Amino acid sequence: MHGTIFLLLKRYVQTQYDHSTWVRLITNTGLSADDFNHREVYPDAHLYALVGQAAEMTGLSAEKLQEKFGEYLVPDLMYMYSKLVDPDWRTLEMLEHTEAVMHTRVRQEHAGNKPPVLDVKRVAPNEVMINYVSPRRMGALAVGIVRGLATYFDEESHITIEPLTSENGERVQIRVQRQ
Ligand code: HEM
Repeated sequence: MHGTIFLLLKRYVQTQYDHSTWVRLITNTGLSADDFNHREVYPDAHLYALVGQAAEMTGLSAEKLQEKFGEYLVPDLMYMYSKLVDPDWRTLEMLEHTEAVMHTRVRQEHAGNKPPVLDVKRVAPNEVMINYVSPRRMGALAVGIVRGLATYFDEESHITIEPLTSENGERVQIRVQRQ
């Protein structure tokens, strides 16, 4: 997984909790280094271990934690890839273009990057259907990212997000509607 995701997880724990929580998290997970570089790709197993351990330490479920972390990620992801974002896009348009624009660029940047495949279709003027496919089973992170995008575009009170399958599968379907 992209080093940026690890860097942001570190910052998330440091800001939502504190630095000593992060140090305990690393120690409990048994990882030797806590320094992540945004140019590198780290084993997915490290992320699963960190999220699992963080869930245990906070008492939140791993899904809830991924959702919250997904929300937190959005402003940084949007900033990092801002050149690719059309200023006219809002939440639904952003979702429609993530696969072809953002995730495609992420794949080009490093052969080790493997963002999930997102099949996003506009099924009605104010509704998109997201079909997430990834062996990483991080659908809960996807739900959090969608919520983060709605907040980012100041549309959180108009957007409803409804997972139609379990968030834990390799295939997750999420309905997003704008009122
Ligand atoms: C601003 C737009 C976005 C950017 C720049 C972005 C970028 C990234 C990057 C860099 C990764 C790490 C990939 C890797 O290490 O292999 C990633 C993973 C991921 N992205 Fe995105 N993403 C964006 C939007 C979205 C959206 C809208 C969703 C969901 C609807 C989403 C769902 C995910 C998930 C769940 C992962 C975790 C890996 C996995 O499940 O396989 N992303 N994304």
